[in-house]
Amino acid sequence: MKRKLLSLVCAVTMVASLLVGCGGATETADTGSADSGEAASTEASGDYADMKVGVCIYQFSDNFMTLFRNELQSYLISQGFAEGNISIVDGANDQATQTGQIDNFIASGVDVLIVNLVNSSSAPTITDKVVAAGIPLVYINREPDAEEEARWSENGWNVTYVGCDARQSGTMQGEMIVDVGLDKLDMNGNGKVDYIMIEGDPENVDAQYRTEFSVKALTDAGLEVNELADEVANWDQAQAQEKVQNALGMHGNDIEVVFCNNDAMALGALQSIQAAGRTVNEDIYLVGVDALTEVLEDVIAGTITGTVFNDHIAQSHSAADAAIKFATGGTNEYYIGCDYVKVTTENAQEVLDSLK
Ligand code: BGC
Repeated sequence: MKRKLLSLVCAVTMVASLLVGCGGATETADTGSADSGEAASTEASGDYADMKVGVCIYQFSDNFMTLFRNELQSYLISQGFAEGNISIVDGANDQATQTGQIDNFIASGVDVLIVNLVNSSSAPTITDKVVAAGIPLVYINREPDAEEEARWSENGWNVTYVGCDARQSGTMQGEMIVDVGLDKLDMNGNGKVDYIMIEGDPENVDAQYRTEFSVKALTDAGLEVNELADEVANWDQAQAQEKVQNALGMHGNDIEVVFCNNDAMALGALQSIQAAGRTVNEDIYLVGVDALTEVLEDVIAGTITGTVFNDHIAQSHSAADAAIKFATGGTNEYYIGCDYVKVTTENAQEVLDSLK
């Protein structure tokens, strides 16, 4: 089933953009995380059995990156990597820790690195040291800026970025709210859509674009908007729960829409909305991004208005495929994209089934 949705997404994506690596998707059992130093427990049989890959994740406790890394590990194993040669480490949301982990991977002589930066602004430093060591580099999820990406092509370095264009996810969030219609949205009758924005890490381009483009979709559709609060909750459920609780305390029934940059924060928002005696899709609307299982269930139940599927399957497979290509002497595009998918009550069950 996973493959069914993936091939659908890929068919669309391959026409629309230069997506690399969707082909050959293989379903594998979820093997959980392999922390650095874990003993080899699986004998690999493919051509890549001796290849070593280092994977740096910005923070293991991030819900979305957990789905991503588990799928990445399963897929690498399905391609013939030995489990013991895949080292996945937790940056604990600290760039100094992550930079030290990268130094260790360089010293141990990995064949390729896959890096989910803690701070995107550290990319130039990381790129310089990894390139100097002659190791190919695949950045995932947190996109370095355009100036940094330009260096890769100018110098012909074996460095690429795999991710989705967050503008698309923001636009889809906004469109789902537009589709509700002003009549239903404008409960306080001021002629505007009154919203609060709950942001992820503000340094992260995904947070910046989702914040900007969700609201832009409303104004592009001719709706007037009124921002009641814009709070940072760092992609985190508990922080979002607190921020939304405060906003509800301050603005009460004037809040008509809650935009969350991701689903973990939408779950936190939902807790506070329910605690305040409000009812999603009746007297308040709530959208997230990622399509976490819990949120898909909420969309089906009508307790979250909608979400956007952030395709961790296509992204992790593309990242692995790019890493394999580099490590076997090939080259990659400098940007490898993937499409988001809008998720409403109409298709939430289908998306959920495809992820099982
Ligand atoms: C996801 C978030 C996640 C973040 C990590 C985003 O693309 O939507 O859920 O926390 O990446 O960088």
